[in-house]
Amino acid sequence: MRTQVAIIGSGPAGLLLGQLLTNAGIDNIILDRVSKDYILGRVRAGVLEEGMVDMLDRAGAGERMHREGLPHDGFSLAFDGRDHRIDLFGLTGRRVMVYGQTELTHDLMDKREASGGSSVYEATNVTPHDFDGAGPYVTYEKDGVTHRIDCDFIAGCDGYHGVSRKSVPESALKSYERIYPFGWLGILAEVPPVCHELIYANHPRGFALCSMRSHTRSRYYIQCALDEKIEDWSDDRFYDELRRRLPAEHAESMVTGPSFEKSIAPLRSFVAEPMRFGKLFLVGDAAHIVPPTGAKGLNLAASDVYYLFDGLLGYYADKSSAGIDAYSERALKRVWRAVRFSWSMTTMLHRFPDTGEFGQKIQEAELDYLVSSKAASTALAENYVGLPY
Ligand code: FAD
Ligand code: PHB
Repeated sequence: MRTQVAIIGSGPAGLLLGQLLTNAGIDNIILDRVSKDYILGRVRAGVLEEGMVDMLDRAGAGERMHREGLPHDGFSLAFDGRDHRIDLFGLTGRRVMVYGQTELTHDLMDKREASGGSSVYEATNVTPHDFDGAGPYVTYEKDGVTHRIDCDFIAGCDGYHGVSRKSVPESALKSYERIYPFGWLGILAEVPPVCHELIYANHPRGFALCSMRSHTRSRYYIQCALDEKIEDWSDDRFYDELRRRLPAEHAESMVTGPSFEKSIAPLRSFVAEPMRFGKLFLVGDAAHIVPPTGAKGLNLAASDVYYLFDGLLGYYADKSSAGIDAYSERALKRVWRAVRFSWSMTTMLHRFPDTGEFGQKIQEAELDYLVSSKAASTALAENYVGLPY
């Protein structure tokens, strides 16, 4: 087989890139090691920046998001027993869209099917080859048969645990990492959200986040220890702990109900540089991970795709390599800003095991300054709605 761009990974990054390429008449194949249903069963991000919304529109997959997504003009920071609203729209003239990664992935998969793009799911042993030379290709196995796809470029959109980054010689890669000493225990439940906007809570017992997927479906998280076991967390225990970390008005009005998903996610910051090795590009989580506190992981995948698509379009339409040559530098500049923001939100809102009551006081002073200074609130809001591409 031959294609112009072989895409490894059918998450948001691979699907978005694939659709933009297909729409531009650039041939591509998407390979993923798991099934479509498996991918759609993963519960992940929920907040989209305007840049991501625009990218979905460009891909022609934004219709349902505009119909069913919830535009949010602000969110709350809760600390010291009170709520403090950050007026995103008032401070920046921009808003965010609450729409689940699962739904967005569904829409991109449907669009790909409708436009006849080729995808191979449950492809095992996917391996990129010769991306340092003139003839890159990808091999994979399916139903016991080995296949080979020759291509011009390989897009490694295969997430943190994927094969693309691991295929690059270690000496060509520099990694930066911070692992946080806690995780997030999250539930999804068919109950109306406790508030119509998101609440990020700092509390001496630990961080909590009240998010949602719709007017009738809530996504709640609490900070937990890394060795916590899901089996030890009944729904009742989870809600009790969540309520303790929220201002009284929310704790009292919260509607509870059985969860239908419960999981623990570790938190880390990670960046691998550069994001290009010859004809192989790393895109999204394959190149970087951020803790979810700033809601940036999915949004960074979209900005990477923006820069890479721009470069590939320049290469095929104008025979210019300038865009692909600039990809890594352009993407990393925005990545590091989001890494910084996600780290600062995480540091400000979570309880760290070694900072004690002093750390709590410092966090409260920082939050108090943040909500009372227009300059500081604007800086927060500007980062939250997403820095420009
Ligand atoms: P992914 O979505 O990881 O997609 C990669 C794809 O590549 C997968 O489908 C995978 O099956 C495939 N793949 C992997 N290895 C191979 C291989 N060897 N061969 C072929 N295919 C392969 N972000 C937020 O903003 N908010 C959140 O609340 C949030 N929660 C998260 C919870 C978890 C558990 C995780 C893992 C991430 C979370 N994120 C969150 C981050 C966000 O979901 C990611 O940033 C986003 O999914 C990145 O998209 P991606 O396409 O780069 O990678
Ligand atoms: C979510 O809804 O899953 C979500 C929202 C905001 C975040 C992280 C996760 O910062």
